[in-house]
Amino acid sequence: MEDEFRHFCVVRQEHLNHYGSLFGGHLLAIIDEMAYVACVRTYPGRNFVTKALKDVEFHVPAHLGDVLETHAKLEQVGRTSCQIRVQVFISEAMDEKRQLSFDGLVVLVCVDSQGVPTEVSERNI
Ligand SMILES: CC(C)(COP(=O)(O)OP(=O)(O)OC[C@H]1O[C@@H](n2cnc3c(N)ncnc32)[C@H](O)[C@@H]1OP(=O)(O)O)[C@@H](O)C(=O)NCCC(=O)NCCS
Repeated sequence: MEDEFRHFCVVRQEHLNHYGSLFGGHLLAIIDEMAYVACVRTYPGRNFVTKALKDVEFHVPAHLGDVLETHAKLEQVGRTSCQIRVQVFISEAMDEKRQLSFDGLVVLVCVDSQGVPTEVSERNI
């Protein structure tokens, strides 16, 4: 059972904003998706929707060609909600030295087929 999920990608031209740095909305999409994956991999067969992004901070900007390394870890589980810590580290392609670029907490709620909050079941793996 993994307790931390990792994803790597490279910043491409289409991910940039008009300042030439990584568009924050693109990063937020990765973060939201990683938090979702952490939940559904931990609780297979359950549905989750994003409820909130908390304590979100963009520390340093990423640029064209940078490698983004995203880590997602389930930090807290409530009755119907999960809180996932997501951190994104950046490094230049030719240099493995990483810097923390983004840090935040994503709250997802487990919902039934009608979209109503339902209990997060016991881990079944
Ligand atoms: C997610 C949704 C079903 C929750 O319904 P709700 O009636 O607001 O939920 P509740 O007030 O019962 O709270 C549900 C859980 O979320 C937690 N929660 C709600 N708001 C929170 C916040 N801002 N921060 C942390 N936890 C929060 C509650 O504490 C509760 O957790 P628990 O059962 O583990 O104690 C509903 O708000 C919704 O459908 N929102 C839109 C979701 C969406 O479209 N997301 C984007 C696409 S995925």
